[in-house]
Amino acid sequence: MEIIEAQSGYTSFTLQVNGQRYALNVEPRRTLLDALRIDCGLTGAKKVCEMGNCGACTVLLDGAAVYSCLVLAVECEQRQLTTIESGATGNTVGALQRVFIEHDALQCGYCTPGQIMSLAALFDRDPSPSEASITEAVAGNLCRCGAYRHILQAAQSLAAAGANAAGSEDD
Ligand code: FES
Ligand code: FES
Repeated sequence: MEIIEAQSGYTSFTLQVNGQRYALNVEPRRTLLDALRIDCGLTGAKKVCEMGNCGACTVLLDGAAVYSCLVLAVECEQRQLTTIESGATGNTVGALQRVFIEHDALQCGYCTPGQIMSLAALFDRDPSPSEASITEAVAGNLCRCGAYRHILQAAQSLAAAGANAAGSEDD
C-alpha cells in the first residue's frame, strides 16, 4: 500500500529583520506580529488590539510603517523589516528613543514602540518634518495615557535638530 505523507500545513521561509536573517517554519496564517514576537524573539512590537486599530504593533516594511498584526509573515520574505530593536544601532529609531526619554513622551510606554516606528518612517523621508506631518504620521497610533503633547514635543525637537543640521550643511 502506498504511504502518503500527511501535509504539515507549515511553510519555511526567512525574514530579514534589522539586518539579521531568521529562518521560520510556520503556518501560512502566521501574522508578522506573531512571527516577530514568537519566532524571532523580538518582542518590542506590542500586541494589543490585533485588529489594526491601535498601532502598538507598528514596524517598518521596506521603510513604510505597517500594522504588523494585519500583515502575514510569509508576505515579508525578500523584504526589509525594521523594528524598535534596531534603535540599539543608533539610527533614526535610536534618535527617536532618545528624544522620547528627554521629553517624557510616555507613561505606561505600551504604545511607545509603535509611535516611534511611525515617526521613524516619517523622519527617514524628511529629517525636519512640520508639526502637521508629525501629527499625521502618528494619527494611527493610540495612546490611552494621553501622552500626545509630549510625543509631539519629542518629535518636534528632533525635527528642529534635523533642520539645524540641514542648515549647517548649507553654510
Ligand atoms: S495590535 Fe496591531 S493595530 Fe493594534
Ligand atoms: S504611554 Fe501608555 S498607552 Fe501610550
